[in-house]
Amino acid sequence: MELKLLKSKDEFMLERAESEFWAYKIENNAYQKDLVLLDNVQFIYELSLAELELKALGIEFETKNGLREFQILNKSNECKKLIKKRGSYYKTIEGEFTDYFQIIQKNQTRSVNQYLTHWIYPYKGKFHPQMIRALLNIIGLKEGDTVLDPFSGSGTTALEAQLLGINFIGFDISPLCVIQGRVKTESIYVINEIESIKGKIITNIYPNLFQSNKNYYELLNEIATDERTKNFYKLARLIAISDNSRRNRDFVNSFIKNVNLMIASVKDYINIKEKLDLKLGDVKIEIGDSREIKLPDNSVDGIITSPPYSIALDYVYNDGHSLKDLGYELEKMRDSFIGVRGNGRNRVELYNEDMKRSFEEIYRVLKPNKYAVIVIGNATYQGKEIKTVEFTIEYMESLGFSLVNNINKIIFGLYNVMKKENILIFKKER
Ligand SMILES: C[S@@+](CC[C@H](N)C(=O)[O-])C[C@H]1O[C@@H](n2cnc3c(N)ncnc32)[C@H](O)[C@@H]1O
Repeated sequence: MELKLLKSKDEFMLERAESEFWAYKIENNAYQKDLVLLDNVQFIYELSLAELELKALGIEFETKNGLREFQILNKSNECKKLIKKRGSYYKTIEGEFTDYFQIIQKNQTRSVNQYLTHWIYPYKGKFHPQMIRALLNIIGLKEGDTVLDPFSGSGTTALEAQLLGINFIGFDISPLCVIQGRVKTESIYVINEIESIKGKIITNIYPNLFQSNKNYYELLNEIATDERTKNFYKLARLIAISDNSRRNRDFVNSFIKNVNLMIASVKDYINIKEKLDLKLGDVKIEIGDSREIKLPDNSVDGIITSPPYSIALDYVYNDGHSLKDLGYELEKMRDSFIGVRGNGRNRVELYNEDMKRSFEEIYRVLKPNKYAVIVIGNATYQGKEIKTVEFTIEYMESLGFSLVNNINKIIFGLYNVMKKENILIFKKER
């Protein structure tokens, strides 16, 4: 029995390396340094964003110590407060930990960027949350402003905007995405009900010899009163279904483990909100089509989004098991998903047509002189590169946007087929 508890050498080394990496002790002479980058900042694009962010916050600076430190030239209490509260890439300012550094310590996973509730559901193609926080600052959004993501996916922009006190409106054609975004941002308001029904939910999930278990969704409707609690337990079930069908994990074990981790993450969020006295933004996420955004003209202060990368990923097929469990008919859904409609070459044409309509909508709902950020990459289809980035720039410019920044971003990760994507920052000029 004892032996089973011993970790293999690999596991031990990995844990040690990770804990050392994360044991961010503050250095003795940190107070002498103005601004120190977080240890996980490794790429050139991150440094570009860090610099753009400082400029957007009105900071004048010089880089030092192999680009890992900044010396602030126009130091004031106001600028120190701004960086501490809103900055994305910095560990300390004059020896004091930034809010972001403290937020990312609240992490129930082994992945540096899956802190708080970001990790909930293994959605493919998630944004890097740190990058989104920086972009919200770079495009000048402040507490009380409203940012839109018309392809809101797993809700990364939603959670990052909420943390900065920026109001968020999101649409996605996939009902599964809407649940993800809502659970990540709304569970903090119903943690008592979530905890109070956990026992009943778990008892029902065990295989029962004497009577068949109640249908999960029926039980949920009977014992949960708040829609947000229902969404929490719907998503907990879908993660276990995904773990079971993709990774062959035992459904019951996965369910119980994930419910507990989800609750711990929601509590982490509540805890850090109180500790840092965060004033959260309002979040509204609905099922919606980017080709027909249900918002008035000139109504949002900024847009940060990432549409499907041409026909690179079949979002319906990819999340088929979860969508089916929620009661949806996959074939009926395909027609409204961009990048999934049609076959072969015709699929790229339909994609371009759908994206043109989406870009026109982005233009229509954004206020003049404000910014739209589109993160997108060129996918390869049958050995040929599809020039989606160039297409996006050309069409957006034809609508009256100017491209103010184009940042190449490496895609880092073992399982990614694409190597690079672009962060395109557009300004609505007319
Ligand atoms: C690249 S993903 C977005 C990922 C997101 N940035 C994140 O961090 O999770 C693209 C999203 O577009 C959605 N989508 C596809 N067709 C759509 C449409 N017609 N209207 C709105 N969303 C759509 C997909 O469901 C998918 O979630």
